[in-house]
Amino acid sequence: MSGASVHSIGQRRFKVVTYGCQMNVHDTEKLSNLLFHAGLGEAEGLDDADLLVINTCSIRDKAENQLYSDLGKLRSWKDARAGRVLGVGGCVAQQVGDALLTRFAWLDFVFGTHNLRWVPTMAEAALAGERSARTEESRSPDRFDLPERHAAWRSQTPGRAFVTVMEGCDMFCSFCIVPSTRGREISRPAAAIVDEVRALADRGVCEVTLLGQTVNAYGRHDLRRGRAEESGTVAFAELLARLDAIPGIERIRYTSPHPLFFDEALIAAHASLESLCPHVHLPMQSGSSAILERMRRRYDRETFLEIPRALRAARADVAITTDLIVGFPGETRADFEDTLSAVREAAFVDSYSFKYSPRPGTTALELDGSVDPEEAQDRLARLQQLQRELTLAHHRSRVGSRTEILVEGPSRKSSRGGAGSETLPQQVRGRDPWHRLINVDTDAPAGELLAVEVVEATPHSLIGKSVKRGAWAAEETGRSAVTAASEDPLRVL
Ligand code: 5AD
Ligand code: SF4
Repeated sequence: MSGASVHSIGQRRFKVVTYGCQMNVHDTEKLSNLLFHAGLGEAEGLDDADLLVINTCSIRDKAENQLYSDLGKLRSWKDARAGRVLGVGGCVAQQVGDALLTRFAWLDFVFGTHNLRWVPTMAEAALAGERSARTEESRSPDRFDLPERHAAWRSQTPGRAFVTVMEGCDMFCSFCIVPSTRGREISRPAAAIVDEVRALADRGVCEVTLLGQTVNAYGRHDLRRGRAEESGTVAFAELLARLDAIPGIERIRYTSPHPLFFDEALIAAHASLESLCPHVHLPMQSGSSAILERMRRRYDRETFLEIPRALRAARADVAITTDLIVGFPGETRADFEDTLSAVREAAFVDSYSFKYSPRPGTTALELDGSVDPEEAQDRLARLQQLQRELTLAHHRSRVGSRTEILVEGPSRKSSRGGAGSETLPQQVRGRDPWHRLINVDTDAPAGELLAVEVVEATPHSLIGKSVKRGAWAAEETGRSAVTAASEDPLRVL
């Protein structure tokens, strides 16, 4: 055997395990793409993998602790076969850096959130016995210049893809570790984004989700400093309009916007852009102005609640979802009641809610007034109960309506298998334009846009039946009825 083949990462198989947000899921896609370009193939599982990469999340302590427990167990994976390589990337890697190499002797390399491109080189070096860490922060848009999607690349759902428009966060909310794990805000040139979305449309993608830690802050620094032309960025609403004009792109989503940058132009875009989905995931965090101030969110309860009102004036059927934190230092019972009432007032269709988790390096660590863990748990349960009621009421209001889903694959029920499952009718799952999950008895392939009628509501999803696409009113498909645009969207900020 030649030396080159012993120390060559090409021809081997990789597996990436992902924790955390959609940005991490997309980083895993970018990493897989880089590894395809380096000649590796994808492993089916851990057993046949030669290279294993863990893409980590540090947003709450639970996700971080999961990594340490996984790494402990992976010693035996590494030792089971010579030539195996183990790497860790993502937010924990960015934060902890090469201390991970000291703590876990069987770990080969560590890479930060701006260092994806080095993974093939680091993996190669590991085969020659070299352990390494790269966590330097990049302030250059060059890091967006990754190779095009390889022929072997597959998106998790055919027909759907993530596209990065900006990265980093300069908001420094007092509870959040993201500004230190993802670095400073930086936006990609609009032309590169348009080119990427065009190329995706050519590959049959009809739905894109634009990603950024504060996605609607896209281009803001360049615009404010008069450098937009030089940087090739535009206002976020203008970017959406350019993407809406691309043939073949039927659905545009974006996540997550920050309330502070939810301007009139973005609200107007929801009324006028045909392919912009009527769903906005808008993190509120708390409904108490006092807590929002301690969180350094830079808006108060009333300013936040203006946004759902303005959005609904522009687009009556918009579905709004949110993120909420309970048990933040100083949160009194009255503050928590304010959150419950704001959730009702905003009529969130769904929410992700969390107990506050103290994170290293964040300014909330210095705040007094910690909330008793049992009390925090109790608040979480009450909040989630309220949300279940709101979600179910919304789902019930949808029964009898028609829409379309982008089929993702077999539903949970179908894919669970087990005794008797062969006799069950094939069921698929997919999301409608409002981002609701709908299960339908059909064998339609993943990636297809399927016309459905909603026949039943459950607490977490809808049940639909496949119907013939007719001469539907625009609202039924979730597309913007352009004529229904509000002439005077409310001023938000
Ligand atoms: N504790 C609890 N939840 C947090 N989030 C971010 N940081 C923390 C923390 N320290 C939540 C916020 C954010 C979502 C992605 O995670 O609600 O919007
Ligand atoms: Fe974290 Fe706040 Fe930035 Fe969101 S806006 S990533 S919560 S610091």
